[in-house]
Amino acid sequence: MSTSVDAYLEQKKIIIDRALSEFLPDPGTTQVAAAMNYSVKAGGKRLRPILALAAAETFGVNAESIIEIASALELVHSYSLIHDDLPAMDDSDLRRGRPSCHVAFNEAIAILAGDALLTLAFKLVAAYGLREHKEKEALKICISLAEAAGSEGMIGGQELDLMAEGKILSAAEIETIAELKTGALFRAAIRCGALAASAPDHEMEILDCYAGGLGKAFQIIDDLLDEEGTAAELGKPAGADRTSAKATHAAAMGKTAARARADLLYREAIEKLKELHRDTEILAALAAKLVYRKK
Ligand code: IPE
Ligand code: IPE
Ligand code: MG
Ligand code: MG
Ligand code: MG
Repeated sequence: MSTSVDAYLEQKKIIIDRALSEFLPDPGTTQVAAAMNYSVKAGGKRLRPILALAAAETFGVNAESIIEIASALELVHSYSLIHDDLPAMDDSDLRRGRPSCHVAFNEAIAILAGDALLTLAFKLVAAYGLREHKEKEALKICISLAEAAGSEGMIGGQELDLMAEGKILSAAEIETIAELKTGALFRAAIRCGALAASAPDHEMEILDCYAGGLGKAFQIIDDLLDEEGTAAELGKPAGADRTSAKATHAAAMGKTAARARADLLYREAIEKLKELHRDTEILAALAAKLVYRKK
């Protein structure tokens, strides 16, 4: 399975990268356009769009037909990274193996580039609705994406994450932060893919549990990698969470317990998938890839 999931990731990444290049503005026009291209094209694992494509495929919908949705998820994610790195937030100079957007350009351009990526994401969802004659699905996807990215989702989690710096939080409180700042977009990725495929509500709920657990596990591993990895491996600074006194699972409960928590969330996610009476081999293999990753 590991070879075929690797091939799957590789193949989908090519499709997503090609679409992103097409949807982004010409980098030669303005500094903001250049910064948008710089950050999105720096690479990244493209996990959220790949999850959206995999969810749609689970219900028999062709990946290429929802490419705007997948791209929108990556644009929202890339915007969140640009803003996450700003001096007022995590103050991080390295991202995806390159100087962060505000370092390569400047803070004002980085703020605007993030805003522009977020805006473009919603244009793409609407464009998908018109192109595929799936206006109603597109509206539902807009709502899901907006809720996941907004003050009750990712932004809410980012606020809690900043407020928690230097504080001692319980494991449950730390997990709530992970659920919002990272889990919300993972859930949206799966949900948007499933919505585009008009998946039935009860199946959507099963997938939502899978994605929620996976998102939390993903952030726990991100925090562990921050402690254990190197900047060269991660493409972003190592040890940054400790320097900023971030409230992480690893800091609160130790690395072994944090890894065990990620393991449990992974196993629960896989168990949940079994309730879906469909071919979930790729979704299960993707979960393993996300949780047992090295960068
Ligand atoms: C990093 O996400 C930010 C988190 C939510 C932990 P990824 O690890 O998916 O970053 P890229 O897209 O591969 O750069
Ligand atoms: C970021 O979490 C989550 C986002 C919503 C961007 P982190 O701050 O841990 O992400 P990295 O480690 O900088 O990628
Ligand atoms: Mg952060
Ligand atoms: Mg950060
Ligand atoms: Mg991190």
